[in-house]
Amino acid sequence: MTDNDVLVEVRDLKVHFPIKRGVLFDRTIGHVKAVDGVDLRIPRGQTYGLVGESGCGKSTLGRALLQLTTPTGGEVVFDGVELTTLPPARLRAMRRRMQMIFQDPMSSLDPRQNVESILTEGLQTHGIGGNRDERRAIIGEALDKVGLPRWALSRYPHEFSGGQRQRIGIARAVVLGPELIVADEPVSALDVSIQAQVVNLLDELQESLGLTYLVIAHDLAVVRHISDTVGVMYLGALVEEAPSDRLYTEPLHPYTRALMSAVPVPDPDVEDRRERILLAGDLPSPANPPAGCRFHTRCPWAQPTRCTDERPVLRDIGGSRVACHWAERIASGELRPHNAGARVARASSGGETPEPVSIPAPTGKADSADA
Ligand SMILES: Nc1ncnc2c1ncn2[C@@H]1O[C@H](COP(=O)(O)OP(=O)(O)OP(=O)(O)O)[C@@H](O)[C@H]1O
Ligand code: SF4
Ligand SMILES: [Mg+2]
Repeated sequence: MTDNDVLVEVRDLKVHFPIKRGVLFDRTIGHVKAVDGVDLRIPRGQTYGLVGESGCGKSTLGRALLQLTTPTGGEVVFDGVELTTLPPARLRAMRRRMQMIFQDPMSSLDPRQNVESILTEGLQTHGIGGNRDERRAIIGEALDKVGLPRWALSRYPHEFSGGQRQRIGIARAVVLGPELIVADEPVSALDVSIQAQVVNLLDELQESLGLTYLVIAHDLAVVRHISDTVGVMYLGALVEEAPSDRLYTEPLHPYTRALMSAVPVPDPDVEDRRERILLAGDLPSPANPPAGCRFHTRCPWAQPTRCTDERPVLRDIGGSRVACHWAERIASGELRPHNAGARVARASSGGETPEPVSIPAPTGKADSADA
């Protein structure tokens, strides 16, 4: 891949939020390390899917990539331009090229604005369209692209179903002609039957407009369907990154293996024989992450003493990037899981039915309205 093929490159990105305490004076007593050293590249026209448990830093990474949250350290290079040191006026101009789609369209759309006003706002901010007629033409095209009728322009967000509202959110992004869209849980507030329609729309728009996506989702099936590459985050860092199919068929990091072991397989025979890895305990606090490998407190394969002492870096293993000291020996079966922090169970082993690991859904209301 040449530098020209890469639209976005993130280098050692960090976002540390200060924890303040004090009545008269705010004292900083620590930091939440929401993102703590992430490197990734997204080629033009491709989709990078980001998964991980609630609180692992996915949204913060997405926002920092767009400079909506100021990074504590590291670089974000967009189309060859380093954004973290860009003067505000130039950053504002770049913003048109990088848009965001949110999880809950109802709370991200102003209920007092009609659709025309919602879609016009960005055009005016960025000086696109000389007069009202020109802007109306641009907005009309955006509505066509997302499959909404022209009469939608005079309506307000509450007059639409959840799926249609998400189409308005998508129109607000594409009307500006962006190259990159960060979609943070774009379908998780929608009913399952509507989710597929919105995912397909994102797919079609990518094809017709040549868009590049960073898609954040807790639903592994959605990410697999839409992504070329998937990154798995744990406590502010990537633990594995691989081409989408490979990550699902050959997960190498113990955390990825645990996540994948919870995804049901359609074949009932395979499903019965499937090995499920049950992680114990909650995600540790990002304010006080474990030393060494951050996953060692829950890892079924953790080994003394390297796992507790030395933080593994992402390294290439046969086309994947994996942050585990023992990935090859775990993959070959030479190292077996033990009970330090987790259990491995077979669905058919009888007795107690294991509770599989799942990524908790972020809060968002379900929506059963038609798109
Ligand atoms: N503005 C902020 N100030 C302080 N801490 C924050 C702020 N935003 C996020 N955090 C903390 O940073 C960590 C990562 O949060 P983030 O929202 O990025 O996680 P997430 O992976 O998107 O989770 P979810 O799947 O629930 O959306 C969490 O511990 C969160 O409480
Ligand atoms: S480095 Fe050790 S603790 Fe971390 S994932 Fe690998 S085996 Fe588990
Ligand atoms: Mg989030």
